[in-house]
Amino acid sequence: MSAARRRAPAAAPPHPADPMPALQTLLQALPFACAAFARSDGALLAANCLYHEEFAALAGHDRRESLLQALHGSDVDIDPGSEVRAPHNQRWYSLYWRDTEHEGRALSLLTAVDISERIEALDSHKSRQEKLLFTSRLMSVGEMAATLAHELNQPLAAIVNYLNGSLRLVDQAGGPVQVERALHAARTQAEHAAAVISRVREFVRAREPRRDAQDLAAISATVLELLRLEAERQQLRIDVALASLLPEVYADRVMVEQVLLNLVKNAIEAMREVPPAQRGLRIEARVNLDDEIEVRVCDRGKGLSQAESEQLFSPFYTTKADGLGIGLAICRSIIEYHEGRLFFEPRDGGGSVFGFTLPRAEGRV
Ligand SMILES: Nc1ncnc2c1ncn2[C@@H]1O[C@H](COP(=O)(O)OP(=O)(O)O)[C@@H](O)[C@H]1O
Ligand SMILES: [Mg+2]
Repeated sequence: MSAARRRAPAAAPPHPADPMPALQTLLQALPFACAAFARSDGALLAANCLYHEEFAALAGHDRRESLLQALHGSDVDIDPGSEVRAPHNQRWYSLYWRDTEHEGRALSLLTAVDISERIEALDSHKSRQEKLLFTSRLMSVGEMAATLAHELNQPLAAIVNYLNGSLRLVDQAGGPVQVERALHAARTQAEHAAAVISRVREFVRAREPRRDAQDLAAISATVLELLRLEAERQQLRIDVALASLLPEVYADRVMVEQVLLNLVKNAIEAMREVPPAQRGLRIEARVNLDDEIEVRVCDRGKGLSQAESEQLFSPFYTTKADGLGIGLAICRSIIEYHEGRLFFEPRDGGGSVFGFTLPRAEGRV
């Protein structure tokens, strides 16, 4: 709130140059900037202190026409209560013009209500929402993987260096062949981890979508490579059953990898509580009746109730303590961008199926 607005309005004396002292006193009692202009020639007849404080710096503030021109950009006020930004102080005002009579004179009365705070509150709410959306995008599974990849890259490079150094030392000293073999094995593993990480980084690099003909077998191989460790840890086998001679899809490869990764991750997470022997994850793909490619990720988790399945795709819906609830929302927007459909259905014999469709590349590239 401006300093002018906070002051008690009735306390200030009338403006000395005012030709209508009674009107001046009246205006002084109002808690907004007010001014009265003669309807005959548009001259300023009376105004309260708030008006002088807030508008004195505006050239032409003492004539109705020039004021209208400065504030509305036209010499008529078309819209009562119109919200304008004053050019001299960059504050927002709601302006009301009213015709009235006082002591036999026809007046045009202006009330200018400072609404800057409301406008700023609206703006900051909007920018908060935009930030939230931005954060939610940043926090996608892929972005978290990027952070991890970044953190792991340095120590891995150091491990490979130490192992190379140790191998040289063992070689020079003619050390035991078992040690040399173990060091070689360790280096192979570290190099493999580094390769996985560089794949992750490539996978999440921010970029414009680029659609062309893509092979689903290659996409699912990348995703499985990224999730191999996690699946092993959960003693989970992932079956891949792609129809033979599956046509290529018209898609952005990285985006579809992200969708499949999210769905398979959800499927793995859905089976955390299921005994290892009953865990089963299957990725299927085939051409459906609409001549689209349909990919299905089937798990043996506990499935979803009707109420749960209705909320699935809403952003921030999660039933996991460590969940973000944005995975499926992101998947859906990616698939819709591809003119496809993301869907859920219960799996025969228990568990869930999350699937999506993509158009064929044929005829589009
Ligand atoms: N395969 C699945 N089986 C059972 N529930 C699932 C499955 N996939 C998703 N869900 C439910 O949908 C919610 C939202 O999933 P998602 O958007 O990926 O967010 P998050 O995984 O962070 O919770 C999950 O918390 C879970 O309740
Ligand atoms: Mg998820």
